[in-house]
Amino acid sequence: MKLAGKVAIVSGSGRGIGAAIATKLASEGARVVVNDIDEGPAGETVRAIEAAGGAAAACPGDVTEPAFAERFVNTALERFGGLDIIVNNAGYAWDAVIQKMTDEQWYAMLDVHATAPFRILRAATEPLRRLAKQEKDAGHVVSRKVVNVTSIAGLYGNAGQVAYAAGKAAVIGVTRALAKEWGRYNVNVNAVAFGYIRTRMTQPMGAEAAVAHVGAREVKMGVQPDMLAFMERMIPLGRGGTPEEAAGAVYLFCIPEADYVSGQVLLASGGFVM
Ligand SMILES: NC(=O)c1ccc[n+]([C@@H]2O[C@H](COP(=O)([O-])OP(=O)(O)OC[C@H]3O[C@@H](n4cnc5c(N)ncnc54)[C@H](O)[C@@H]3O)[C@@H](O)[C@H]2O)c1
Repeated sequence: MKLAGKVAIVSGSGRGIGAAIATKLASEGARVVVNDIDEGPAGETVRAIEAAGGAAAACPGDVTEPAFAERFVNTALERFGGLDIIVNNAGYAWDAVIQKMTDEQWYAMLDVHATAPFRILRAATEPLRRLAKQEKDAGHVVSRKVVNVTSIAGLYGNAGQVAYAAGKAAVIGVTRALAKEWGRYNVNVNAVAFGYIRTRMTQPMGAEAAVAHVGAREVKMGVQPDMLAFMERMIPLGRGGTPEEAAGAVYLFCIPEADYVSGQVLLASGGFVM
């Protein structure tokens, strides 16, 4: 129970990597606010955590809505009386080669991967400053954690993903700048860059491709099967990762042993580097 007494918020935790992160943090004693744009899956993650003896609360909603960030942060403060761990995970890929990429696609990718984490972190500033001051006045130090989810596409680029890669690179900039800004509040700010993790987002694309509903639009999920086969050949461990393995990398940044690690990007890619 390395996270006993901690309160965490995890965006996009209705399914995939986010659900595994929320479940892992809860299994280590954190009380978790579960967010997803899809209310049903968010409720399922909450019920799974509770069934395992943990504590969780749902905060459904679209992270790109301007008013969302305050509601997300306030849910943690009001339901669980604190805020110790912030995981910006919500996201999806809406891909095209540059000549076919619309302004709407471009801004959607920047909104979900960079603007939404920025707003959530901005909304958390005042409570985190207040808590750090109270603790300093009381003579003790509490380390808090931010983990932003990025991608190998954000670090190295990927064909067909100009907008996604830009959004994922932007959140690395947010991570490094905020690590410098929030050191004075004892907040560690890091990022995890995933390679190929087997989720809805990376399922083999076919006739029955899953569709994500984002606002009024439908975005097809998935990756071409030959691309998935190529990626598996290139990964030293020889396979895509599971959501639980992905969550493990995020967890490493949340534990007390990482209290002196900040401003870093950890690659969780089965050894794959470009
Ligand atoms: N799967 C991979 O190989 C991979 C690789 C690199 C990075 N990532 C990143 O990991 C994160 C999680 O992806 P995943 O693979 O678990 O995908 P997923 O589709 O299984 O899960 C993502 C979840 O985020 C939610 N979501 C999407 N947009 C949202 C919004 N605007 N507001 C609130 N919730 C929203 C979805 O409803 C979904 O439940 C994403 O940021 C993704 O870009 C994934």
